[in-house]
Amino acid sequence: MAKVKIMETILRDAHQSQAATRMTLEEMLPAAPMLDKVGYYALEMWGGATFDSCLRYLNEDPWERLRVLRKAIPNTKLQMLFRGQNILGYKHYADDVVDEFCRLSLKNGIDIIRIFDALNDPRNVKQAIDSTKKYGGMVEVAISYTTSKVHTIDYFVDLSMQLKNMGADIICIKDMANLLLPYDAYELVSRLKDKIKLPIHLHTHNTAGTGDMTNLKAIEAGCDIVDTALSPLGNGTSQPATESLVATLKGTQYDTGIKLEDLNELTKYFNKVAERLSKDGFLSPKVLKVDVNALIYQVPGGMLSNLISQLKQQGAEDRLLEVLEEVPRVRADLGYPPLVTPSSQIVGTQSVLNVISGERYKMATKETKGMLLGEYGKLPVEPNKDVIKKVIGDAERITCRPADRLKPELDMYRKEIDKYIEQEEDVLTYALFPQLAIPFFQRRQAKQKGIDTTIFSKDNMVHPI
Ligand code: CO
Repeated sequence: MAKVKIMETILRDAHQSQAATRMTLEEMLPAAPMLDKVGYYALEMWGGATFDSCLRYLNEDPWERLRVLRKAIPNTKLQMLFRGQNILGYKHYADDVVDEFCRLSLKNGIDIIRIFDALNDPRNVKQAIDSTKKYGGMVEVAISYTTSKVHTIDYFVDLSMQLKNMGADIICIKDMANLLLPYDAYELVSRLKDKIKLPIHLHTHNTAGTGDMTNLKAIEAGCDIVDTALSPLGNGTSQPATESLVATLKGTQYDTGIKLEDLNELTKYFNKVAERLSKDGFLSPKVLKVDVNALIYQVPGGMLSNLISQLKQQGAEDRLLEVLEEVPRVRADLGYPPLVTPSSQIVGTQSVLNVISGERYKMATKETKGMLLGEYGKLPVEPNKDVIKKVIGDAERITCRPADRLKPELDMYRKEIDKYIEQEEDVLTYALFPQLAIPFFQRRQAKQKGIDTTIFSKDNMVHPI
């Protein structure tokens, strides 16, 4: 019996995708015993946005959230999302910071680390794989799924084989932009199961309303684990609903073993949380509408709204179509990066500049230059030679792993926040989110001195005391 396993995302991607990552620990905790008894394969509960939101908006220590949930959920595996050499941030960190982050995440309660790189450069996930293994964690390596003439099924199979050889225990297909369609999922999973011989875990969204079908076809092809979100924060821009998939598979050879009655209890509970999130303006029914723009323009939903707002600022909203036509050209020029943070912003902004300035690459952003210089890693194919010449001239391009140019950084970070350190984890909080960490530490100190900090925790923007 090929029993399908379910990873529940309500504590991470679901509220990140639908409600600006605003679910608090206090709202999660009452559900913890119920979540723990369902029989989920794992609960995804940590990642860049949850960490950021804890510090920026919720006045919560993200490490404390992890410890408290670990204690309240003793039997189910906890999973986090990890952006390779960027950890949870946007720049490359030195190997010692990556290593320390893996060590402390696992020490504080994470079981499985899902590691990915926006460009699918295996060198950018190597340190995180090695460190996760070193400290006894399970390694799930994700391929950032995208479509282009180079991103064929063969390409993803070869990439997955490399990741397996580097130590992956599980391969994840990370379809962050909801581009993976049901029949393509069937073919991709079939090929991966045939060649890679590792458990395959699928992560998709339901933005285009195709997510349930994609999950189902992937399961029929032998997919071992799929991500779903309980319906109060499921579907639409989030993952397909847990209840619907569990019901669909019941009594079949893929039966998840999960009881709908148990899920129903959780649904009732999280409906109240969702009500609070919509009352506070974080959740809108709009996120549930089927949106096929990502499929038409091959750009993720978030990127499309960014393009529109950039054009608005320039008073050039009427040029959206031109920009959308320019996006695939810029992407091709830059060597077909998958459109995911940060490459989606880089390609998007450059496309806007190319259209507005009236001459392609007359202006180029620092990030476009960085990408052509190799600062983000190896691009799927060599970028356009004329564009390289025009944008960076004869500047020397990096061919090594970007982090090879970084010296150890941990001691430096530790010294910089010496006076605030109360736990070893604080050094990493600061390394990853320096502008958020300092005000957070200051609020923490103030609270210990008996100063009321509620005024700061209610504030939507951080500022020093
Ligand atoms: Co996602």
